[in-house]
Amino acid sequence: MNSPSPRETILSLFSQNPDGFVSGEHISAKLGVSRTAVWKHIRNLRQSGYVIEAIPSRGYQLVQSPDVLMPESIQAGLECLRVGSRVRCFEETDSTNLQACRLGDEGEIDGLVVIADRQTSGKGRMGRQWESPGGVNLYASILLRPAILPFEAPKLTFLSAVAVCRAITSCTGLQPTVKWPNDILLGGAKVAGLLNEMSSETDQVHYVVLGIGVNLNMRANQFPADLRYPATSLAIVAGQPVSRLDFVRTLLREIDALYQIYLEQGSAPIMAAWTELCDLTGKAVEVDCNQLKIAGTMIGLAEDGALLVRTATGKIENIYAGDVRSV
Ligand code: BTN
Repeated sequence: MNSPSPRETILSLFSQNPDGFVSGEHISAKLGVSRTAVWKHIRNLRQSGYVIEAIPSRGYQLVQSPDVLMPESIQAGLECLRVGSRVRCFEETDSTNLQACRLGDEGEIDGLVVIADRQTSGKGRMGRQWESPGGVNLYASILLRPAILPFEAPKLTFLSAVAVCRAITSCTGLQPTVKWPNDILLGGAKVAGLLNEMSSETDQVHYVVLGIGVNLNMRANQFPADLRYPATSLAIVAGQPVSRLDFVRTLLREIDALYQIYLEQGSAPIMAAWTELCDLTGKAVEVDCNQLKIAGTMIGLAEDGALLVRTATGKIENIYAGDVRSV
């Protein structure tokens, strides 16, 4: 891991300090620079939108951080084992998943996080487009390098789904539900989507990219009129804006904790947590699998992550791809 920049160190000192004050002397000792140099770093942070007050005899106090996603503000005091050990932020990119795959091909590390303010070619499932306006939402891709076989990788979608739901509840108090395979819903409307991609050969995964799009502060008039499903944002449902910075930091901590569980115990506890968040179990569903429609009762997940549906004849179908709706 690269050593932190002076800005990162200062932000991390603010986040570690319970009363929010950090003395110029302490910063100067930590950075090994003069008080004048500290003051220049503080001025530089203010120019980037941080509101920092200087109180005589107490020191500097971080009053407000800009809701701009930057590596140093995301990483400050994050204390994750792997996820976020490196963070790359783009003002604009084609797709964070494409960026993460490119960086993965170049050898980037396990836990790299790629974030964009806006995407010009945001990728949704099944070749669909993911609406990605700037300044409002979260578009993130996490590069992981677990030592697993390729058939195991799709189950990591459940890890992202559980992490997103936990972050939503922690930041807003709202209780989202999951819809197989990769939707997060609030009151039946889609609030987040997940798209995992991987690079592998027959018996080895090179990397997996967890692509996560969360509608945080998108307004109703920013959704395309021809969406195939009802969609919403956290701000619409909660009735107030959500800090992108708080949300992404919460999400990365949740992903890191679940990834640790996954590496130590496998996917079973993650799939159990996903099942708890799914309110369609035992309900009548219809699954659109390309040309084929399968109707029946949703039973749950198979061990390999397939959706299990019992049809009217009593047969249990294992479904590997499709759009589920409750009927
Ligand atoms: C879906 O169709 O539900 C999946 C949407 C996934 C969107 C996210 S946004 C961040 C990452 N980058 C992409 O291009 N797509 C995913």
